[in-house]
Amino acid sequence: MPHSDPMDSAERYAWLQSELARLDHAYYVLDTPLLPDSEYDRLYRELIALEQVHPDWVRPDSLSQRVGGAALKEFTSVKHAVPMLSLNNAFDDAEVMNFDRRCREGLQQNQVTYAGELKFDGLAISLRYENGLLVQAATRGDGSSGEDVTANIKTIRAIPLRLQGNTIPAVLEVRGEVFMHLADFAKMNQEAARLGEKEFANPRNAAAGSLRQLDSKITAKRPLSFFAYGVGACEPQSWLPKSHSALLDQYLSLGLPVCAERKVLSSVDDILSFYREIGSKRDRLPYDIDGVVYKVNSFAEQAELGFVSRAPRFALAHKYPAQEALTTVLGIDVQVGRTGAITPVARLAPVEVGGVTVTNATLHNEDEVKRKDVRTGDTVVVRRAGDVIPEVVSVVLERRPNDTKAFEMPSRCPVCDSHIERVADEAIARCSGGLFCGAQRKQALVHFAHRRAMDIEGLGEKIVDQLVDNNLVRTPADIYRLGFTAVANLERMGEKSADNLIQAINQSRTTTLARFIFALGIRHVGETTAKDLANHYQNMHALMDATGEDLLTVRDVGPVVADSITGFMQEPHNREVIEQLLASGMVLSVEEKKVSAAVAGKTFVLTGTLPTLSRDEAKERLERAGAKVAGSVSKKTDYVVAGDDAGSKLTKAEELGVPVIDEAAMLGLLAQE
Ligand code: IVH
Repeated sequence: MPHSDPMDSAERYAWLQSELARLDHAYYVLDTPLLPDSEYDRLYRELIALEQVHPDWVRPDSLSQRVGGAALKEFTSVKHAVPMLSLNNAFDDAEVMNFDRRCREGLQQNQVTYAGELKFDGLAISLRYENGLLVQAATRGDGSSGEDVTANIKTIRAIPLRLQGNTIPAVLEVRGEVFMHLADFAKMNQEAARLGEKEFANPRNAAAGSLRQLDSKITAKRPLSFFAYGVGACEPQSWLPKSHSALLDQYLSLGLPVCAERKVLSSVDDILSFYREIGSKRDRLPYDIDGVVYKVNSFAEQAELGFVSRAPRFALAHKYPAQEALTTVLGIDVQVGRTGAITPVARLAPVEVGGVTVTNATLHNEDEVKRKDVRTGDTVVVRRAGDVIPEVVSVVLERRPNDTKAFEMPSRCPVCDSHIERVADEAIARCSGGLFCGAQRKQALVHFAHRRAMDIEGLGEKIVDQLVDNNLVRTPADIYRLGFTAVANLERMGEKSADNLIQAINQSRTTTLARFIFALGIRHVGETTAKDLANHYQNMHALMDATGEDLLTVRDVGPVVADSITGFMQEPHNREVIEQLLASGMVLSVEEKKVSAAVAGKTFVLTGTLPTLSRDEAKERLERAGAKVAGSVSKKTDYVVAGDDAGSKLTKAEELGVPVIDEAAMLGLLAQE
């Protein structure tokens, strides 16, 4: 918008207000940001600057009013014009069918139409808009009066300070749920942990705790969200549409956030399939829900059915099994993963969580156990969500018995007794048993046989599983002791494939030292480091005996890699396996055959005198990289490399349109990975 002097333009100010409100709506309600954050910030700063020059321009719905003013001493009480009710709950299909039957009988209809929506796990709020302006927000409290949390609610960016559109009622009380997205909750707790502050047990507590802050500046820092799902007072009543689903559509056009997971349902079958459909995606929703809600869709029918005590007859919450439960810790074990990662696991008194009996819950890592201070004998909150491994959320400290001891990480691997090591900056402790550790064996073997390691074709995960499960192979050295009959007896293994595998194993004995080192699967030793180590030490024993100090002299080897190598080599089991491998007839060359993708499989013809390489040297370099070098030019030739005094081969290449390159270009191709 053109403007002459921004600091003096009331028009500019009005435009900024509506533009920023539009951007907030797009970002927080529609989930489609329209501008980069930096651009938004620029407009926002401009608004604030204008307000400083013209404090009299500031309106209650100015975006600057979201930030929060002075802290309150206490919340004032608000009487709800229309009471905020609760919902009756159903836990099984029969209760839902009863609800439908009662509605049909009450309305004397064969069929009732319902609005199905989610039951959000947050806290209920009533927002009062007068002529479109948000004037008051109150918690549910006891249903007839709640607490005035207007300042806190204004900090929630998804809640419009002014309603959009042309048909705005004089009074509208929007009811809905304040909640926190799971990702925001996780981020907030991580930050709290970093600062040594108290963490919240779940998103609902976090939302409730944030809204009950007397200092709205604190609330402003909490990532709260909102969905509208109901109406309280409305004047004039004629503004209200005929049905609940139409009301929610109308809300959207006023700029209010309404959850998209909703459906109009016309039978009890529809209702139950809605319940199952949402149930199957519950774990993938970005926020917690504890059920779905069915509401008779027509407002006239709702009024006809009325209320019993504090809950409407026209609505029902159909709950999902709880995702959290209390139980006691019987002990804390550690498990060894396929990469040697050690995970502490709480063994629990069996408890039903979300419809499944849980007996173990992960404690993630040593720091987590220490932070949550989980101890044997403790009563804990266990949480599971779908396929995710159940986890211990928190300890109920009030129920801690007297004689508990803090958890200590064992120093040796429970599977192979190798020592457990933890690199300073990493959260994960690992078993140093490597190739020897039963827990890591399969993964170590698959890596060992990998195409880029020992390159044993046909020795993939499925065969490795069988070999290990049948006790045929424990360490990589055992691979070289496998006989034909043992292999041929494996499941889904014909004679031909058994023969191929044995051949591949035999062929893999002749390889490079670099591949062999890489194949050992030493942590932090990738292909490049393995090559550097091979070039530096030239033989395996020299590497096995290298000191940390000496390793640091190898190109690109820093303290982390050096520690990892010495740790691996100090483990007697690992040395034993290496010795056995070397004794099984390995032929390890130091020069790696470097296959270049740009050159491999291509046919070259050399002609003339090259500036630096002899004809033989050039031929050798090309062949080592996987190319063919032919004596004459044909249509099949990919490149002719021409030097000085090139003769008829060059002419032929030009005739056939074969690319002609010089030595430098050839070296360039060879250098490509
Ligand atoms: S309607 C007249 N709809 O559940 C019915 N409530 O037990 C009033 N809730 O306090 C509530 N999602 O915090 C309604 N889609 C939804 C809901 C919902 C969550 C909560 C709300 C209320 C409690 C009722």
